[in-house]
Amino acid sequence: MRSRPDADKPTVTEMKFSDSFLDEVRARLPVSQVVSRRVQLKRAGREWKGLSPFNKEKTPSFTVNDQKGFYHCFSSGRHGDIFRFVMETEGLSFPEAVERLAGEAGVPMPEPDPQYERTVKERLGLMDALEAAAAFFERALQSGAGREALAYAEGRGLSRETFNEFRIGCAPGMRDTLKNALLQKGFTEAQLLDAGLIVKPDNGRPSYDRFRDRLTIPILDMKSRVIAFGARALSADAQPKYLNSPETQLFDKGSMVFNFARARQSAFDKGELIVVEGYMDVIALDQAGFKNVVATLGTAFTARQMELLWQLAPEPVICFDGDRAGEAAAARAVDRMLPVLREGHSFRFAFLPQGQDPDDLVRSAGPAAFSAYLKNAMPLIDMVWRREMAAGAIDTPERRAAFEARLETLLTQIENARVREHYRREIKNRLFELWRPQTPRARSGGKGRTSKPIRREALPPPTDYGFGTIVTLAMVNHPWLLDHFAEEIASVDLRDKKLAALLAAARRAIFDDPAMSREALIGALRAGPHGPLLDRLFWESPFTRLAFLRPEAPRDEVIDQFTDVIYRWRALPTLTREIAESAESIAEMSEAEFERFAALQQEVASVGLQHETDDAPMRDAKQRLQDTLARLKNEPPSRGRRRENRR
Ligand code: UTP
Ligand code: MN
Repeated sequence: MRSRPDADKPTVTEMKFSDSFLDEVRARLPVSQVVSRRVQLKRAGREWKGLSPFNKEKTPSFTVNDQKGFYHCFSSGRHGDIFRFVMETEGLSFPEAVERLAGEAGVPMPEPDPQYERTVKERLGLMDALEAAAAFFERALQSGAGREALAYAEGRGLSRETFNEFRIGCAPGMRDTLKNALLQKGFTEAQLLDAGLIVKPDNGRPSYDRFRDRLTIPILDMKSRVIAFGARALSADAQPKYLNSPETQLFDKGSMVFNFARARQSAFDKGELIVVEGYMDVIALDQAGFKNVVATLGTAFTARQMELLWQLAPEPVICFDGDRAGEAAAARAVDRMLPVLREGHSFRFAFLPQGQDPDDLVRSAGPAAFSAYLKNAMPLIDMVWRREMAAGAIDTPERRAAFEARLETLLTQIENARVREHYRREIKNRLFELWRPQTPRARSGGKGRTSKPIRREALPPPTDYGFGTIVTLAMVNHPWLLDHFAEEIASVDLRDKKLAALLAAARRAIFDDPAMSREALIGALRAGPHGPLLDRLFWESPFTRLAFLRPEAPRDEVIDQFTDVIYRWRALPTLTREIAESAESIAEMSEAEFERFAALQQEVASVGLQHETDDAPMRDAKQRLQDTLARLKNEPPSRGRRRENRR
C-alpha cells in the first residue's frame, strides 16, 4: 500500500497569506537569487540580465531588478515577483510557491486559525479515507474479484505498468465491501459519506458503496493525493458509463484537471500541454509516451481550469473530436476563453478525425499520427474566425454587416486591453482581405467604374495559395469537376507543397473512384495525412463562402466559374509578359502589331492586374505594363498612324 505523501503536513491550498508575511519572504529572498537557479544572470547596471526562461532566444531579454523586487521578460511580456517566477517556471500553485520560498527564506509559515485547523483536520481525515479506498481498489483488481475488470482494462490495451502508474483498481460488485473494510480500519460512516465513497438512501435503509462493479480511476490533487474517483462501467449497457465522486470538501470539479500532478514536469519541460476530454484518453496517451496530458473530464472549461492549464504551458492544445459535437464543444470553449486571455497566453485547437478520441487515434493510427494532429492545431484567432464564418452566409451586404457585428461583439469580450487591441487589428486585416474587391473594375477604384452589374464573385485571390485553395475546395465539393477539367487540374502547379499534396490526394481518390460522392471524398481525405489541412481550408479560408464552391451550387454555374478561375490563372503570367515585351517596342509597332497589342491589353484588363507575384522580374514587367497602360489611356492612339512618342 502506498502512503499518501505529506500526510502529516496541513494543506495550504486554501490558506490566505497576509501582506506582511509575503513581504517578509520577499525581503529575504532577492529575485536574482531565486531566478539564478534557472537563468544565468549577468549584471547590467542596477539590474540583472539573462536569457528568457520562457522563450528560446539568443539575445538576453530577461531582466531582474532586485530593488523593485520584479523580473520582466521582454520577449514574452511576463512580469512578476519571486512567487510568480516559481509558479511560472515550476508549475506550482501560489500557496505551493509561498510554502517553498518561505521555507527557503527561513520565515515560519503563519499559524493557522483554529477554524482553519479544524477544516484541515477534517480534510485530512477524508483524504486518508480516500487513500485507503484507492489502496483497497488496487488490491481488488489483483484479486479474484478483479478478473473481469482486469480483462476489460487489458482488452483496452492498458499495460500492468499503466495500472500501477495511475493506480487503477476495481470496485467489487457487492453492496458494501468497501464500506465494511474502511469502517474496520476505523473511519466513520460520516467520513465515508463526506468523502463521497458511500451513498445514504433517503428511505432510511443502510448506506452502501457508491462504486460497484466498476474499474476505478483515482483523481489526484496537485500533490498526488487522492481526492475523488472516476469509475467506468465494465459492460457496455451499464449506466452511467462513468460514475464520478460527487463534489466534496476536497473535490471541486471546476477547479481541477485530471492528471495535473503527473503532467506537470513533462509539460513544463516541453513547454507544451495536451488537453483531452476523458480519463481513458489521458491514460492511453500517457502509455503511448505523451506524458504532458490532462483532461477536463467532460466539463465545460472554467476560468480556474484555464489558469491551471496555463501554469503548465502558455498555449495548451485542446483536442476535439472532428465531429459535430466536437465542433460545438470547441465553439463553446471560445466564449469561455476570450475573457481570460492575456499576453502570451492562449489556447490551440486540434481537431481529430471524425468520431475518434485521442485514445482511439493513438491505438488505431499510432503516436505519430496523433502528433501530426497536434502540430496542426489551430490558434484561437483562427477558431474565432472559423466559427463566425460558419455561423452564416456573407453573400449580401446585410449579412456581411452582421458578420462584422458579430466579430465586434466578440472583441468586447476580451478583457485584457492589449490582447483585445491585437485581436482588433488582426480581425481588421482579415476583413480587409475578405472584403477587398477582386474584380478588375471594382479594384481599379471609383473612377472608370462601369454601371454594368458585376456578376462575377470576388474571384481568385492574388496568391498562389489562394488559387490553390479555390481549386482544391472546388474539387472536393464537386468531385465530378475532375472529369471536365482533368488536363487543367493536372497542370496546376502549386508552390505550397502541402496544398499540392492535398490536391494530388484528392485527384488520386477521384481517379480511383470517379463516381465518388463529396461526402465519401471528404471522409477519405480527412482520415488521411492531409485531413487537418483540409479542415483548415474548409473553416478558415474566406473562399469557402464563394457560392460556386457550395455543394448545392448548380453545375453550369460551377463549370462557368471554375473555367474562369483556371483561365485567369493560366492566362495571366503569359499575357502580362507578352504585353510587357510589346510595350518596350511600342513606338516601332506596325498598325497590325498595335491592334494585337490593344487586344492583349483588353484581355489583361479583363482578367485583372491584381495578381501578386513573388517573382521580381515579373513584378517589374507588371509595373512597366501598368505604366504603359496608364500612358495609353491618357493619349489614346489614333488609328492609321504610327505612334511617335517614346518613353
Ligand atoms: P466520453 O463519453 O468521451 O468517454 O466521455 P471516453 O472518455 O472516451 O470513455 P471510453 O473511452 O468510452 O471509456 C469523456 C469524459 O466525460 C466524462 C468522463 O470524464 C469521460 O472520461 N463522463 C462521460 C462522465 O463523467 N460520465 C459519463 O457517463 C460519461
Ligand atoms: Mn474513449
